[in-house]
Amino acid sequence: MGNKTLAIIKPDAVKRNNIGQIIAMITEAGFKIKGLRMTRLSKESAMKFYEVHKERPFYGELVEFMTSGNCVPIALEKENAVAEFRKLIGATDPAQAEEGTIRKKYAASKAENAVHGSDSDENASIEIAHFFAGESLL
Ligand code: CMP
Repeated sequence: MGNKTLAIIKPDAVKRNNIGQIIAMITEAGFKIKGLRMTRLSKESAMKFYEVHKERPFYGELVEFMTSGNCVPIALEKENAVAEFRKLIGATDPAQAEEGTIRKKYAASKAENAVHGSDSDENASIEIAHFFAGESLL
C-alpha cells in the first residue's frame, strides 16, 4: 500500500470559493501537502488525464467541465493515502456520500463533484506526474 495520492479541487469548488475549506478538511484529516498549484486544464490535457473513462457516455461532459475553469491539483502524502483520501471525499454521487465527507459538503452533482481522488497507487503515480512532472516533491 502506497502513501501518495492526487487530489484535484475541481472548477465547481474553485468557482464557489471553497478552496480554503477543502484544503482545511484535507490537512485536518492528517494528509501532508507535497505539491500544489492552480491551473486551467487544456482540452488535450483533460482528455489524457481521464483517458481511462474515454468509452464512458459522460466522457465529453467530464472533459468540458474540467476545462471550464481553474482547478487545484494537490499531491498528498499519508499512510494508505489512496483509500484514506477516498474515504474523506465520499461517494462520486454526493447524494450517496456520507456525512462529514468533502463531497457531501461541497459537491452539487455526480458530474460537478468538487474533488477528485486517485483510485489506485498506480494511478496516483501517473496522476501526480501529470501535474508535477519534473518537479521534486520533497
Ligand atoms: P472523478 O473522481 O474525478 O473521476 C471520474 C469522474 O467522472 C468522476 O469523478 C465524476 O466527476 C465523473 N462522473 C462519474 N460518473 C458520472 C456520470 N454519471 N455523469 C457525469 N460525470 C460522471
